[in-house]
Amino acid sequence: MSIDAQSHTPPLGHGALTPFYDIVIALMTRERYWRERLIKRLAPQPGDVILDVGSGTGSLAVALHKAEPRAVYVGIDPDAEAVARARHKNKKAGSSAQFVRGFLSEDAIAAYAHPNKVVSSLVLHQVPLEEKKRILRQMYEAVEPGGLVCIADYGQQRSWRMRLAFRRTVQQLDGVEDTQPNADGILAPLMADAGLADVDEAERINTMTGTISLYVGHKPLGRC
Ligand SMILES: C[S@@+](CC[C@H](N)C(=O)[O-])C[C@H]1O[C@@H](n2cnc3c(N)ncnc32)[C@H](O)[C@@H]1O
Repeated sequence: MSIDAQSHTPPLGHGALTPFYDIVIALMTRERYWRERLIKRLAPQPGDVILDVGSGTGSLAVALHKAEPRAVYVGIDPDAEAVARARHKNKKAGSSAQFVRGFLSEDAIAAYAHPNKVVSSLVLHQVPLEEKKRILRQMYEAVEPGGLVCIADYGQQRSWRMRLAFRRTVQQLDGVEDTQPNADGILAPLMADAGLADVDEAERINTMTGTISLYVGHKPLGRC
């Protein structure tokens, strides 16, 4: 299926809001803190190849470049405007991050990267359940045996305060159908179903838009 034939939800739920994405995320999600925690989990090293699924406007790439400029970074995202913004922002920051427009697929995995680390932030909550499963399977396929998968996304909303915050913000923008499975705690079981081992909801960060959880898992050694 061509990239234009397959639909996707843009960064803030509507294409017209994409120019405001960075400022909204900075103001409403404690972005600096959760990105720092995510990068700590990723622990980028010289020579790492890091694939970012749903790379959006390229903010994680800029932060990763600052943390470890010798790591190779490839971002993939179906949204043309987000990809253009990511390229512009990274060039300005002196980062050589590469951005590909598309969905994560077997062809994309073969063509663009052989990552030892695969990451995704704030993507899975806004895609349908079947797409969550497909993306996680492809992340598993993409990463090298022994490699690391890290996800930062809205996870289980455990308190009434966090459920209310999530309902009033994220679910207003992205709808209930795609987002509710995350709020019900589906991500860790789906990661394990995709084949990942040692899956752990390692951190939970409360924000005014709901709890963002950091999940980690590994592809077992000896499996392709
Ligand atoms: C909320 S933004 C997050 C962007 C970025 N990862 C970040 O941390 O700021 C979600 C991104 O996921 C992308 N996206 C939507 N559907 C997707 C899919 N099926 N596969 C990969 N990315 C997708 C959107 O285009 C958008 O850029």
